Amino acid sequence: MTESFDALWSAILPIGRSAATGGYRRYALTEEDRLLREWFAGAAADRGLTLTEDRMGNQWAWWGDPDQRAGVVTGSHLDSVPDGGAFDGPLGVVSAFAAIDRLRDQAFEPARPIGVVNFTDEEGARFGVACAGSRVITGALPAERALGLVDRDDIPMAEAIRSAGRSPDAVGADPQTLRRVGSFVELHIEQGRSLAQLANAVAIGTSIWPHGRWRLDFPGEANHAGTTPLEDRRDAMIGFAETVLAARAIAKRQHGLATIGRVRVQPGAVNAIPSSVTAWLDARASDEPTVQRMVAEIEGMAAVHGGELTLESWTGQTIFAPGLTGRLRTALGDVPVLSTGAGHDAGILSAAGVPAAMIFVRNPTGISHSPAEWAERDDCIAGVGALATVLADLAGAEG
Ligand code: GLV
Ligand code: MN
Ligand code: MN
Repeated sequence: MTESFDALWSAILPIGRSAATGGYRRYALTEEDRLLREWFAGAAADRGLTLTEDRMGNQWAWWGDPDQRAGVVTGSHLDSVPDGGAFDGPLGVVSAFAAIDRLRDQAFEPARPIGVVNFTDEEGARFGVACAGSRVITGALPAERALGLVDRDDIPMAEAIRSAGRSPDAVGADPQTLRRVGSFVELHIEQGRSLAQLANAVAIGTSIWPHGRWRLDFPGEANHAGTTPLEDRRDAMIGFAETVLAARAIAKRQHGLATIGRVRVQPGAVNAIPSSVTAWLDARASDEPTVQRMVAEIEGMAAVHGGELTLESWTGQTIFAPGLTGRLRTALGDVPVLSTGAGHDAGILSAAGVPAAMIFVRNPTGISHSPAEWAERDDCIAGVGALATVLADLAGAEG
């Protein structure tokens, strides 16, 4: 099992890594994405799994026929945030194939099909909407809206799909694919320090905080930086800057989280007054009313400066299916249970009625969405063992 994990991991490791930062730039529908998909297809072929693609291009590798009986699916995503870490996403996909290898080493015969999935564009780093792959197939993101999303170079998703050799006409909700998924267990690196504090290698995820993304547009007027008196300026940057500081104070007061991590300034010249600032807000909290209150306050502050706020994506609170979570707890014995503020495809499937659960693997520093993201190899192997145990339980004769 360790050999199979190591071989899978080392094959994927160089793809999309920036020599400059050591971080990963694995964005949907790019050359890096093509290489990752090729790796996934190769891993499936090496194991004699049947490879399929759904209407959004998510990849599925099946051991057994899920049209005969709905299967137990595991996996995650292979894309990254800009300069992301190696583990967020890929650990779940690599561990899925390694867990299948382990089950086969044990001569396990599944009574239910087992599937491995690679969800496309989970981070939304290119087109802005997180979990686009799972949202589209569940119908949470309508095809027309997905296809019209644009990247930083104003390339629409429809065109990127075409450039990748696929047809945008195929994109849409995919109930046939979802019918094959009897349950979904996503293994993921922990994006916090709970397991490090508890001195455990793995945990079971029970819930995800509600969270969303909003666009903030601030108006201004371009003019000369050297000749326009301060009192004559309409500088879009000022309202933006005050809103950033207010968002932090509001989040602190409401015990939530607010992040503005991306910004676009026009015309973007050192010596020109900004004519517009567009920024993206990520807001999360332990309950939905708190998120809504925080965002309403931030919107109010932006409005003082003529700014407008537009919702781009929303994920309500996820409570993973208690029956499935209970099953994992019985199978894995005495492991901690955790809630997380990070979003996952498991949350989108859960909202669509698919019983879903998560397994987290210890992250010694808790750092994620950064090149410094890390999990020790022994803990990754423990994660594979836990996943294999869960799959054997769910896909076994009594499953
Ligand atoms: C995904 O990693 C998210 O929580 O934004
Ligand atoms: Mn992530
Ligand atoms: Mn992830």
